[in-house]
Amino acid sequence: MNPNIRVIKRKINNSLINKIEYYETVISTNKIAMEMADIQEGTVVIGGEQRKGRGRLDRNWHSPKSGLWFSIILKPDKNKLDKAAVLTLIGALSVYEAISNLNINSDLKWPNDILYKNKKLCGILSQFKSKGNKVDRVVVGIGVNVNQKVFPEELADTSTSLRLIKGEKINKEKFLADILNIFGLYYEKFENNEINDIINKWKSNMSMLHKVIIFSTSDKNKYKGEVVDITDKGELVVEKDNGIVEKFIAGDVSIDKNSLSF
Ligand code: BTN
Repeated sequence: MNPNIRVIKRKINNSLINKIEYYETVISTNKIAMEMADIQEGTVVIGGEQRKGRGRLDRNWHSPKSGLWFSIILKPDKNKLDKAAVLTLIGALSVYEAISNLNINSDLKWPNDILYKNKKLCGILSQFKSKGNKVDRVVVGIGVNVNQKVFPEELADTSTSLRLIKGEKINKEKFLADILNIFGLYYEKFENNEINDIINKWKSNMSMLHKVIIFSTSDKNKYKGEVVDITDKGELVVEKDNGIVEKFIAGDVSIDKNSLSF
C-alpha cells in the first residue's frame, strides 16, 4: 500500500522538512535526490521500492515494498562542511530514537548502521554533490527494514525487520514522521553548533564504546584497539594495542570476539 503523504505531512512538526515526494518504484531515492534540479533544503524523496538501492561500498541494497527507503536533501552552512560526516550520525540517531519509541532496544554501530541482536535493521548512505568548488547538497539516504516478513537467503542470517522483532505490522507513516521530526531537531543542533549533544547521545547509545574492536579501512588495513571516543567531526577514536590513538572518518568496525570476556 502506498504511504499516505498527507498523513505524514500532518504529523511533521519541524521547519526543516518542507517537501515530500513519493515515487512508487525508483532506481534509488539517493539517485533522484542527487539529480533533482532546483532543490530546496529539507526535501524528502521516498521510494515505495528501489530497483537498485545503493549501499555503502557500491553494494546493492535490497529494497522491497515492505521497507522504508528515503533520502533527505540538505544544504548545510558552508562553514560546517568539515563536520558533514555528523549528518550520517544524525540520520542514524533519528532512526535509533524512532525505533526506541516502538519499545525496541537496538544498537548504534558507527557510523551508519542500526543493529538488533547483531542483525541489520537500518543502513545510511550519505552522498555529496558539488557545483564548481562548492558543495551544492548533501543527501542522507536512509533504509529501514520495517515490515519484511522474510529476507532472501543471502541476507537471512544478517538482517532483520521491525515487524519480525515486534511480531506485528508497523505503521510506516507514523514511524517516518517520527524519524523526520527527530532529524529536524538534531539538524537544528548541528546548524547551531551544538554538535556535542549529538555526539554524547551517540556515545551513550552505542555498545561499542570502550570495547575492543577490529577496524578495517577501505585500503584493507586492519587495526585492533579500544573505541574511546567520537569527535565533533564524527570520527571514531580508537586507542590501538600499541597505545597510539588514531581517528578514523570511515571504515568498518567489528567487535573482536576474543575480547568479549573483558
Ligand atoms: C548501507 O550500506 O548500510 C547503506 C544503505 C543505504 C540504503 C538507503 S535506502 C534509501 C537510500 N537510497 C539508496 O539507494 N540507498 C539509501
